Amino acid sequence: MSQELWSAVDSYITTLLVPQDNALDAAIQASEAAGLPPIGVSPNLGKLLQILALVQGAHNILEIGTLGGYSTIWLARALPPGGRLVTLEADAKHLEVARANIAGAGLADVVELRLGLASDTLPQLAAENRGPFDLIFIDADKPGYPDYFRWALKLSRRGSLIIADNVVRNGAVVDPTSGDPRVQGIRRFNELLSAESRVSATAIQTLGSKGYDGFAIVLVTAEL
Ligand code: SAH
Ligand code: DHB
Ligand code: MG
Repeated sequence: MSQELWSAVDSYITTLLVPQDNALDAAIQASEAAGLPPIGVSPNLGKLLQILALVQGAHNILEIGTLGGYSTIWLARALPPGGRLVTLEADAKHLEVARANIAGAGLADVVELRLGLASDTLPQLAAENRGPFDLIFIDADKPGYPDYFRWALKLSRRGSLIIADNVVRNGAVVDPTSGDPRVQGIRRFNELLSAESRVSATAIQTLGSKGYDGFAIVLVTAEL
């Protein structure tokens, strides 16, 4: 099994099931041209996010980690009329690239972009009573995941769905001695999920054009 094969299968799946899309293609092009790292979700995982938001009937979505707005566009397109998505990004350049990409997708009125460290903007959202969110996508810096999960719960209701990207990290997540703070952040996040009685959680491994990684999928089951 090789990256080459995973990419070929991703391309096969995407060709069949994830049609060419001008706004999404333009977002990838513009992000690359601006020098952003190519670490957004793959097209088929973007569509998975969109399907989960549709199943959820999400009206109010929170994303932590915008980059160029690629996953933002997938999620925001699942919103019904009057729905809103708030996305949090610490890097001003990333945020401005995302703003243009989101406007190009016709979603400027639906998406609110907030600049700042998520450790600052999450408490601000809570203080503004901006929640509860129906779906929260965690995809910013990995050492921050435990903190982001605690805030995500505070910003949730019974029935909210919390999804976290990058919970497998090429398998590094199984190494308790890892010296990588990103791996340790993900391990602490997974341990928080394990210990949290108010949620029902699982995680899936993903292979594809972006390598070997995974999604955690967390349903808030308790009245908060
Ligand atoms: N969700 C995007 C990818 C996000 S990449 C997609 O799939 O298309 C992670 C992003 O998190 C980067 O843009 C990075 O600048 C941002 N980030 C890193 N640390 C952060 C922090 N402390 N607070 C908010 N955003 C942060
Ligand atoms: C990285 C971040 C991501 O969100 C991702 O999907 C892949 C890689 C990173 O910071 O390396
Ligand atoms: Mg990610």
